[in-house]
Order: sequence, then structure tokens, then C-alpha cells
Amino acid sequence: MKKVYVGMSADLVHPGHMNIIKEASKLGSVTVGLLTDSAIAGYKRLPYLSFDQREAVVNNIKGVDEVIPQVTLDYTKNLKEIKPDYVVHGDDWRSGVQTETRQKVIDVLKGWGGELVEVPYTKGISSTQIHGAIKEVGTTPDIRLKRLKRLISAKKLVRVIEVHNGLTGLIAEHAQVDDNGIVCEFDCMWSSSLTDSTAKGKPDIEAVDMTSRLATVNDIFEVTTKPLIFDADTGGRPEHFRFTVKSLERLGVSAVIIEDKIGLKKNSLLGTAVEQEQDSIDSFCDKIRTGKNAQITDDFMIVARIESLILEKGMEDALERAQAYIGAGADAIMIHSIQDEPDEMFDFCNYYNEFSGRVPLVAVPTSYNTVYEDELNDVGVNIVIYANHFLRAAYPAMIRAAETILTHKRAFESEEHCMSIREILALIPGTK
Ligand code: SPV
Ligand code: MG
Repeated sequence: MKKVYVGMSADLVHPGHMNIIKEASKLGSVTVGLLTDSAIAGYKRLPYLSFDQREAVVNNIKGVDEVIPQVTLDYTKNLKEIKPDYVVHGDDWRSGVQTETRQKVIDVLKGWGGELVEVPYTKGISSTQIHGAIKEVGTTPDIRLKRLKRLISAKKLVRVIEVHNGLTGLIAEHAQVDDNGIVCEFDCMWSSSLTDSTAKGKPDIEAVDMTSRLATVNDIFEVTTKPLIFDADTGGRPEHFRFTVKSLERLGVSAVIIEDKIGLKKNSLLGTAVEQEQDSIDSFCDKIRTGKNAQITDDFMIVARIESLILEKGMEDALERAQAYIGAGADAIMIHSIQDEPDEMFDFCNYYNEFSGRVPLVAVPTSYNTVYEDELNDVGVNIVIYANHFLRAAYPAMIRAAETILTHKRAFESEEHCMSIREILALIPGTK
């Protein structure tokens, strides 16, 4: 019996997949190389179903004899192991992101006289259409909550953007650029205390109460499916923090970040220009433990944020705290820095990477904004948060529109600072 290899993601299985498997099984015994979450996340959105779920589906499709993981988009490793007589694929990969992969398959198969068989693309149905329909249906708190951990294990770097209302949530949900066939988008959202309070015209001093902060998250969750990390400032008293954890989990928030400060918290970007007191290691560890004991699911994450570099307490203090917070059960560490250059952050990362119990690391490059994602990835950062950019981008345009109307005593001149009504309505699903 001839050996046939079919590589696929099989997230949203549709008649196109069935056709390929049917054609493949006419040629011999079919092995499906099922792309792992990280192989898929390297070039498009993380699949809705986990690897195990997708494997269970494909294993039960008529005509499939075996399912094995394919850990990269590149087929070479699996092909060299199996040496199939045929690889079967839809002919849609002749253009786009997979053209190189396709060529490599042809070249590798030549090594033992194997052949690529291309099946005409099934028209009228596509994963993109199904993705759109799923977005419209929405998500559940449980699915959304679990998604962050899956992203961390599947992606080299999880990309997070600040949101502070439904509209910014929609932008985070849908914004995309095509980078040579690779779809780039935000993986996750950040409910920033700075932007949530600023949007409400209040200072970032924990003056916006938790009920109001959760109402903002609820507005965002009404219109999005992506996961969210919540900025809980100091977390308040441990006795209060346990309620915050439970409320966030119930909503479907994936992680909370708390910073090791006490007293009247001010925004960290103000640095030492304002008085700020850092919590003791013991007391902050106690808060982390309280939060961990309060959570119900295994997937919710408590992230400990270290302010030592901002408060000029030194690298040693930052590292000692990281060790202690991990010991207390922190699921990830956020190291904050307000230097213009990433050097001190990188120093921290290099020491941190030597920790035996290392957990994922979060960076917020607001001040050291020249750093590229690849550089953060190279020093071991797992999550990057662009913490305030939507709010800072929007307000200058509003001020310009206000001043233009006041100057001209009519609205006409302000139009150049505004989107058209048609464009803004088009942003909102369900308008038509
Ligand atoms: C926020 O976005 O509210 C943060 C990050 O906590 S920072 O403003 O840099 O402190
Ligand atoms: Mg904050």
C-alpha cells in the first residue's frame, strides 16, 4: 500500500477538508500531519480548538489511518521520517504564505521519488468565512479565560493592546495587517487602570472603584472574543483582593496583574517625581497567596508586577522579589521600567532567565518604545503590553476637532480630523 501524507490544521473542518482526505485515501494509506497550536499561531490566529480536540475530530474522519503532530509549518521533518509516496494538499497554497513551504515539499519528496498531488480548492466555503461567523456568535467566559494560557504556550510572544471601552475593544478584535502573507493581529487586551480612569476624567490613583472597572470590562466583553488581562493596581487589601479575583474569573478575564506598592498608588510612569511606597516582600507574597487560594479555575493567572527598577531600589531587589513572588505562587512576573532605553530591562531578563522556577515574563515598553518585538522575544519576554496607545492616539484628534469648530464657528473645517459617519458606523457590527 502506498503512503500518503496530508498536512492540515483542521480547526474548522468543512467539506474542503473532506474532499482532500477522500482524494488522498484513493492513493493509499493516509497519515494526517496535524499542525500543533504553535505551528499554526506562527502564521495565523490561534485555532479555536486545542490540539487534542482537533486530533479527536480528525482521527474519526473516514479515510484517515493515522494522525501525528506536525510541529512546524515546514513539512520536512515528518516527510523525512515517513517518506510518503504522495503529499496531498489543496491547490490554494500555490500563492500566499505557504508558497515556500510548498516548494520545499516538492524538493524534499524528490529525495525518494515522491510526488505532490494538488486537489482543486473547494469553492464557496472557507475557514475565513467560518471565522467571521464564529466571531459573530461570540464566546463564553470559560473559553475566553483559557485562551491566554494557550496563547502563551503556542506563541513566541503574546501581543496585548490597551482597551478602555467597547469601541477600542472592537479595534483590538479586528485590527490586522498582512506581513508578507502572515496575518498580524493583537492576541489579547489590557484593561489599563491608567486609561480606564483617564477616560473617566479621573486620576490613576485607584479612585475608580472596582464596580466601575468591571462594568468597563463587561462593555468590552459584550463585543469581543479575545482574552483580557486586568490591571488591578495594588490589588487593595488581601481581604478585598480575593473578591476581585473571583469577580474577574466569573467574567472570563484570563489574568490579573497586581503591583507591589502600598498606600496612595500613583501611576508608575511618574517615576520618583511622586512619593510611592513599595510593599514588603512578605506582605506582597501574602497577597499573591490569598489570590491564588481564591481562584476557582486552574487557568486564571495572577501576575506579580515588580516596581523596584522604577523606585530605584536596584536590580538585586528586583530579582529577589521575582524569586519570592514565584515562590508565593505567581503565575507570571511583570517587570516594569521607565528608562528610555531597554538596557535595564534586558539586564533583568538575562538574570531572570537563569531562574530554575522561571514563569512567563511580561514587559510594558511605554518608555523604551524603540524596542522591537523580536528583541523582546530574544531576551525571553513572553507577553508584551502596549498599555495606553489607543487613548493617547484618540485624544489629540478630539482636541483638534474642538479647536477647529471654536475657531471657525462651524463644523466644516473639523471634518479633516474626523472619520466619515459612514466609516464610523461600519466599525460597529450589526449597524446595517
Ligand atoms: C496601566 O496601563 O495602567 C499600567 C501601566 O499600570 S503603567 O501606566 O505604565 O504604569
Ligand atoms: Mg495601571
